[in-house]
Amino acid sequence: MLKFKRKKVKKLQEFLESLDDFEKPNIALEQYATPPHIAANMLHIMTENTGEIDGKIVGDLGCGCGSLTLGAAVCGAAFCIGFDIDEKALNIARGNKEDEEVENVDFIQCDVRDLSNSRWYKAFDTVILNPPFGTKGNKGIDLEFLQTACSLARETVYTLHKSSTLEHVEKKVKDWNFKMKAMYRMSFNLKRTRKKDKDDSRDIEVDLIRINLTETNKML
Ligand SMILES: C[S@@+](CC[C@H](N)C(=O)[O-])C[C@H]1O[C@@H](n2cnc3c(N)ncnc32)[C@H](O)[C@@H]1O
Repeated sequence: MLKFKRKKVKKLQEFLESLDDFEKPNIALEQYATPPHIAANMLHIMTENTGEIDGKIVGDLGCGCGSLTLGAAVCGAAFCIGFDIDEKALNIARGNKEDEEVENVDFIQCDVRDLSNSRWYKAFDTVILNPPFGTKGNKGIDLEFLQTACSLARETVYTLHKSSTLEHVEKKVKDWNFKMKAMYRMSFNLKRTRKKDKDDSRDIEVDLIRINLTETNKML
């Protein structure tokens, strides 16, 4: 098994690029993988800057084909569990796990929105997510994912959100009595999903947000 602990972002990016991606992305589920250079930067920040992956129990909500889950594992997490609603995506994730011989990872099929009061409550040190943004008729699903993440994590949540929604996300997190910080702004290239779209892809700005759950007394 590859171990990139303390190695350069480039190595991690190469590892992520080698993973299989969605075969036929389900647009309604907003299935697009986090681009490898973005995922590598995210994982690097969590590993090198804040030390919130190494030795930690990590959950990945809406894990898709498992790039963030497997990336966290090779960055030194003690154990990682990826959750997704789509069994086909999870089968690709399981194939990636086997191909890369990553042992300390499991994948579970479920609707993430059902997890808040489940056996996974406060089961993870760190929860990471690139949630559906709610642009395909699922308005608000990004915040439902985020609220679930805050109930499953004991220490920290890392989440990606469209920069245009940052103020709204900040307000919600404040309402939940947690503190958040936008760590890093990135340009995310989304492929065309509708025939009527003129361009093959478009760039959107996203922010990597960190929520520290230990800076408050309130638990969700
Ligand atoms: C933007 S993709 C992110 C995929 C992956 N985390 C990555 O970074 O490459 C969002 C993922 O959320 C999953 N998803 C959408 N709705 C869901 C739900 N209600 N419960 C669980 N997973 C869901 C989709 O199947 C998809 O894999």
